[in-house]
Parts: sequence; structure tokens; C-alpha cells
Amino acid sequence: MYSEKVMDHFSNPRNVGEIPDADGVGTVGNPVCGDVMKIFIKVEDNRLKDIKFKTFGCGAAIATSSMVTEMARGKTLDEALEISNKTVAEALDGLPPQKMHCSNLAADALHAAIDDYRQKQTAKA
Ligand code: FES
Repeated sequence: MYSEKVMDHFSNPRNVGEIPDADGVGTVGNPVCGDVMKIFIKVEDNRLKDIKFKTFGCGAAIATSSMVTEMARGKTLDEALEISNKTVAEALDGLPPQKMHCSNLAADALHAAIDDYRQKQTAKA
């Protein structure tokens, strides 16, 4: 029922962990199941230099977190904001319909981390 890519990212997730001195942190909870995802970013020259995640959630949530960090790394902030729940699910060759809500966390947490970074920059200015 899961694609090979989902199984790969679930069994062998990329970019797991925390960035202690992160420039932005995004935390999102899934209202459907209560699972939580946290994304940490480091920004340099308006690009995502480093990105890591911690997800307390199901296999599909872990696979989408892993995929979103791979998609976002190296992108400019505006490019990263264009990553959507849909593009993450597509990059994983789809998710079973009852697991689509799990993909909501990944892009939302990434966007929240970028918003957090931008708010901190504005506060500094
Ligand atoms: Fe909670 Fe998938 S069941 S994120």
C-alpha cells in the first residue's frame, strides 16, 4: 500500500535531529491524529543551508518529513515556500488516501520555520 519511496524514507529517514542554534523553528500538530512535527532551519544568504526534523508521528509523517527536508535543502526561502503538501506527496510517488492528512505536517512545518526565521529577522532590524 505504500510506495517504495515512502518505505525508503520511513526506514531510512534523512536529516533527523535538531539544530541547537537554529535560525528558525517550526512546530505543527496534526489536528486529525495529534502527531507533532518540528523542523529546524539554518539560513545563509537567503538559502536553507541546513535543515533537520523531529517527528512524533506515523510512518507516513516520518517519510514526508524526510522528503521535505531533502526537497528544501539548498533552496532559497521563496523557493522553499513553494513546496506544498501536494508536491511532497507526489515526490514520494503518492500516499494512500487515508494517509494524505499526514503529508500536511511536512510543508506546514517547513513554512512555519521560515516564518519564524523571518519574524526573528524583522525583530532584529
Ligand atoms: Fe498522524 Fe499520520 S497518523 S501524521
